[in-house]
Amino acid sequence: MSLTGLSRPTTGAGAALPVSLQGVGRTFATPTGARTVLADVELDLRAGEIVALIGPSGCGKSTLLRQVSRLDNPDRGAILVGGTSAGGVDPRCAVAFQEPRLLPWRTLRQNVALGLPAGTAKAAGAARVDALLHLVGLEASAGLRPRQVSGGMAQRAALARALARDPGVLLLDEPFGALDALTRLKMQDLLLEVHAAEPTTVLLVTHDVEEALYLADRVVLLGTPTAHDPRSVRRVIEVPGDRPRDRASGSLAELRAELLEGLGVDTHHTRRTSTDPHARTDQHEPTAAPAGPHDTALAGSAPRLPHATRSTLDSEISR
Ligand SMILES: Nc1ncnc2c1ncn2[C@@H]1O[C@H](COP(=O)(O)OP(=O)(O)O)[C@@H](O)[C@H]1O
Ligand SMILES: [Mg+2]
Repeated sequence: MSLTGLSRPTTGAGAALPVSLQGVGRTFATPTGARTVLADVELDLRAGEIVALIGPSGCGKSTLLRQVSRLDNPDRGAILVGGTSAGGVDPRCAVAFQEPRLLPWRTLRQNVALGLPAGTAKAAGAARVDALLHLVGLEASAGLRPRQVSGGMAQRAALARALARDPGVLLLDEPFGALDALTRLKMQDLLLEVHAAEPTTVLLVTHDVEEALYLADRVVLLGTPTAHDPRSVRRVIEVPGDRPRDRASGSLAELRAELLEGLGVDTHHTRRTSTDPHARTDQHEPTAAPAGPHDTALAGSAPRLPHATRSTLDSEISR
């Protein structure tokens, strides 16, 4: 995968755009009455920032992404992208989901080309698609159809398709959630490479605390609005350290514990120090995953999530 040779298209939004959510709220009518999913969301994303959204299942993470892209509209408040409010679905935003949603009868190259803005000149569009296929490491597989490639490759094609329109804001809804653990780690690094090559503002929904802390400048913890806690945004955490970060760093372990506590997960196991013989969690780790460079990065002495805690998290924060 290379970051060179990327030619910018003559169409598209161009540079990263700031996003401002001002008192955003969304209430749905349900058979059992009105249900407020988002309340009083105040959040500003700087141009080019990566912000992770994390929170329990059903707390409104996907709904919030839909508000920013204007696939759905807020009942209350305002959303400004690049300082202006979109009248309809915002062409400056691109979305990628947990499922790649590729057209099965088209090649990867054709699927990526579907993301080009309408009216893109043929030669410029072809050059853009080639550059993106190269960026996500799919140039040799461009002629294959989705069923002929792995889940990780399909997801890379979906990412390239989202980037094809040169979005000012990239909205990612649990984009790596369906991938195996090792592919997921590789995709996280790919996202950082893509972000360096194609600087765009990224709002990433994830249920993986470690992923959020590895990728994001800030992590926003969302919760379901209640009478006691009426605002959706519960906490905003600045993540220290330049990317790529050391996944095993002690400061991230502290933030991980803080986020898990915010999610209502008992984290007392993560508080053990590395001198505590019971702190070793390797024996609880799944052994099926093949060893790779990421495993080495993860195998430091900093506390890791015990398997039991991960299981709790997976069930409590399931998709
Ligand atoms: N169009 C809709 N009509 C009614 N309820 C909806 C609609 N969209 C989402 N919801 C409800 O809003 C809640 C939050 O959904 P969602 O944003 O998908 O949660 P999350 O992504 O955090 O898991 C869920 O209870 C969901 O059923
Ligand atoms: Mg969701």
